[in-house]
Amino acid sequence: MAAAVEFDLQEYLARQCERVHEALDRLTPPAPAEPRVIHEAMRYSLFAGGKRVRPVLAIAAAGALGEMGERVLAPACALEMVHTYSLIHDDLPALDNDDLRRGRPTNHKVFGEAMAILAGDALLTLAFQTLAQAQGLDAAQRLALIAELSAASGTVGGMIGGQVHDLEGEKQAPSAELLHRIHRAKTGALLRASVRFGAISAGRLPGAEAYEALSRYGEAIGLAFQIVDDLLDIEATPEQLGKTPGKDAAQHKITFPAVYGAEQSRRMAGEQLDASREALRPFGAQAAALHAIASLIVHRNS
Ligand code: IPE
Ligand code: IPE
Ligand code: MG
Ligand code: MG
Ligand code: MG
Repeated sequence: MAAAVEFDLQEYLARQCERVHEALDRLTPPAPAEPRVIHEAMRYSLFAGGKRVRPVLAIAAAGALGEMGERVLAPACALEMVHTYSLIHDDLPALDNDDLRRGRPTNHKVFGEAMAILAGDALLTLAFQTLAQAQGLDAAQRLALIAELSAASGTVGGMIGGQVHDLEGEKQAPSAELLHRIHRAKTGALLRASVRFGAISAGRLPGAEAYEALSRYGEAIGLAFQIVDDLLDIEATPEQLGKTPGKDAAQHKITFPAVYGAEQSRRMAGEQLDASREALRPFGAQAAALHAIASLIVHRNS
């Protein structure tokens, strides 16, 4: 697709990540605010160098609908807050027990388990405060964002539900059915929500044609994202990943490579990329950023 080829993704990502960084800094209490330690812990993980895939997806989805302004920024940051909270908790000894995240020692390694739990809780809470107070959106939009983010991070088909299946899966035989259930919920729901956030911020509420088309794109790239995360866990280095590879096999996780093998998994990620492109068809050249991000998700090495 010509639009995707001509699109300068690196330049786009640099610009949007900068906007997200500034907005996150503005929306998060400053480190010197009391109690200092919690704000330091929140900021430590928020500004550790994540790829910002979710906020950039929201911005790009809004852009595909002609909304290029500031009003998507606070919702985009709310996604990154919930995502960062989910990573802090995912790394805790009681969950995946990881020491390295975003190229740094994990939150609990630096601040202790109690503060890491509270920093996660605080980021989750701040996300909803951010949505409730988002500027430039009407009450129906704010409500739709709050409903979407709570469902996507919740227990029924959302991130927490997926994490529960993921943990329980460590003691179960791998099956395609369980694998899809885990991935759709633990990662897919928040990525689909990211794209929906762009639609809602651009005034397309659930039911609108563009909202549904973007949701299909979000589902496809959401699944592709976790397939690639699973592949990188067996193929990448700690330097590339900023986290410790090899953990999934060691912890008997139900992953795409475990169920389908690496080669078939890569093929399936490619199929999801095709599905995402199909979903973007109605948006033409305005979806160049979304096309480029989908390719990046599938072909990334970090
Ligand atoms: C990692 O997400 C956790 C998963 C949901 C697979 P990312 O790969 O987006 O992590 P960061 O935000 O760049 O650190
Ligand atoms: C975590 O999945 C998804 C979340 C909800 C945080 P993983 O456990 O595979 O994420 P990584 O590989 O530790 O980033
Ligand atoms: Mg995990
Ligand atoms: Mg993990
Ligand atoms: Mg992983």
